[in-house]
Amino acid sequence: MAFERLDEYRSETSAIADVTTALEPPECRGHVELRGVSFGYLPSQPVVADVSFELRRGETVALVGATGSGKSTLAALIARFYDPCLGRILLDGRDVREIRLRWLRSRIALIPQEPQLFHAPVWQNIAYGREGAGRKESIQAAAAAGVDEILAGLPNGYDTNVSERGLTLSGGQRQCVALARAMLSEAAVVVLDEPSSSVDALTEQRLMNALRRLARNRAALLIAHRLETVVTADLILVLDRGRIVQRGSHSQLLSQTGTYRELWHASGPREASGSLRLVVS
Ligand SMILES: Nc1ncnc2c1ncn2[C@@H]1O[C@H](COP(=O)(O)OP(=O)(O)O)[C@@H](O)[C@H]1O
Ligand SMILES: [Mg+2]
Repeated sequence: MAFERLDEYRSETSAIADVTTALEPPECRGHVELRGVSFGYLPSQPVVADVSFELRRGETVALVGATGSGKSTLAALIARFYDPCLGRILLDGRDVREIRLRWLRSRIALIPQEPQLFHAPVWQNIAYGREGAGRKESIQAAAAAGVDEILAGLPNGYDTNVSERGLTLSGGQRQCVALARAMLSEAAVVVLDEPSSSVDALTEQRLMNALRRLARNRAALLIAHRLETVVTADLILVLDRGRIVQRGSHSQLLSQTGTYRELWHASGPREASGSLRLVVS
């Protein structure tokens, strides 16, 4: 389906397809496990190296690291836009390569920095998250996610027509639509890639709140640029050139010497506006 064509996560060489024995598990608990995952867009240039971690329903794992450290690539691997070169990615203990792609993508909601939408009204873009959902359910899902104000505030509210590729809406507004869709969907795992730097502070705050609401009964992976947004995560992974160099809670990581503490102190005194950024090399 056109909707699944997230060009942001595709390359010429990507050849992801169902194996003939691909199956649809009867349920999804939302337990993701990466075991020794390595990947490179070119075999000679690893982008993700020996990454292992687990993510369970009700948990939020945050991924931080400099631009180019491999965060978006990891997100794309989890939703199986690529397969690892080494290692395995498991969902509920089963290798994702054994699972029917269509089923997998309906259980893992990946919200990229610049989501692509359909040429259709906003509410229909949300309704796509669940078969048979209508305008009313879509608006309820947006309210449940806490993005109602932003979407209702569009020129024609939920009836605003999205142009081809969704470009009438800003990246942040499109992420709001994608979060509302995830709220409506059966997804047990939600992966939110960092809002692009063009997103204003209020929209970003709302996106983070929406993720928190989604995370209550799902497994959530949050890719973050601002360290402030990861303070409450159950586990923070610090990625450096494709490798996890530190892992722990915010307080654990602050008490250790290492990248996280350096980044935290380098970003200066905290401000209530949350305008500080993870300074990158
Ligand atoms: N589709 C792609 N094809 C080739 N190289 C890519 C592609 N996407 C990302 N890369 C490269 O992989 C590395 C990691 O990128 P990315 O995962 O986007 O990092 P981050 O999200 O942490 O900024 C970078 O060197 C980037 O240039
Ligand atoms: Mg990225």
